[in-house]
Amino acid sequence: MHIQEYLPKDMFNNHTVFVTGGGSGINFGIAKNFAALGANIGICGRSAEKLEKASAELRELGASVFAQSADVRDYSMLEKVMNACEETLGPISTLVCAAAGNFISPAEQLSPNGFKAVMDIDLLGSFHACKAAFPQLKKTQGSIVFISAGMSLIPYFAQVHVGAAKSGVDNMMRNLALEWGRFGIRSNSIVPGPIEGTEGMKRLAPAGLDHKLKKSIPLGRYGTTDEIGQAAVFLASPLASYITGTTLVVDGGQNLPGSGQFAEVLREAMALMQQQKTS
Ligand code: COA
Ligand code: NAP
Repeated sequence: MHIQEYLPKDMFNNHTVFVTGGGSGINFGIAKNFAALGANIGICGRSAEKLEKASAELRELGASVFAQSADVRDYSMLEKVMNACEETLGPISTLVCAAAGNFISPAEQLSPNGFKAVMDIDLLGSFHACKAAFPQLKKTQGSIVFISAGMSLIPYFAQVHVGAAKSGVDNMMRNLALEWGRFGIRSNSIVPGPIEGTEGMKRLAPAGLDHKLKKSIPLGRYGTTDEIGQAAVFLASPLASYITGTTLVVDGGQNLPGSGQFAEVLREAMALMQQQKTS
């Protein structure tokens, strides 16, 4: 993997990294990047089938893997899974709170239960994971990486539920940095931009809008799951030993308010000027 060209392959030997929702998409990309650097990997999610497939790939990268079905909304189930993970792989030194749900719905059409479903998975589920992993993180003086979203930074149309949940996640991240620093535990979050080939992008950007969307991103392209994995590795590594309470935005500039639209208008204006010059 790309990351092995830059960082030692044994960087996370004897470390256990637990990723909630680690069976697919960005979260699986994060698990793979840690696995490529020697980590033991714990993953959970609701679908056992997804977890089995992901485990096989992680083992191919050389990782010892613990995978068990759990819904992050169910605290006692999650606690059991994390305790069983400790027995198999040793205490968690990096917890990645990444399980989430999303769909598009204008606020006036969203049911209270739809709002609650996303709050329960993203926000309450992340608290559940932190609370269940705390005794292990205390032993390892480990760190937490939350997977947030641009909706935490600026409002997005038809995303009132996700905005509320992810803003809550980022605030919880800072709160835990403040409270758990005394145990040597660091807490940070990543805001991914639009990431190619993921379930989130399928739901938010139906095919056909790709070209227009890419044009609105300052770097002109979608990100990759590896690019989020690399950011997570950095935040969990000794290279970030004095970083806590921070949000790392990994989005090709997509959330810089208005910059995408500005760039588009500027490009059109420049083309017009060029046309006027040549005519
Ligand atoms: N638009 C509006 N409301 C929706 C919706 C949609 N597309 N999808 C679900 N809901 C509402 C449901 O109608 C229900 O509310 P109601 O009881 O008032 O009808 C509520 O959300 C819960 O739905 P349910 O299907 O029971 O939830 P769940 O717990 O089985 O699934 C979701 C959770 C809805 C978030 C589901 O989309 C999911 O499992 N997502 C995981 C994968 C994902 O979203 N990946 C992208 C991450 S960025
Ligand atoms: P994804 O593949 O659907 O990832 C979500 C994962 O969470 C799935 O593996 C899912 O597995 C799991 N999950 C969902 N509900 C759960 C629950 N109740 N309990 C346990 N696990 C649950 O989607 P993704 O797009 O890669 O998103 C991954 C993360 O990145 C999310 O936190 C998302 O908000 C964030 N993000 C994504 C983008 C993007 O461009 N895709 C941008 C910004 C932020 P099961 O269904 O099997 O449970």
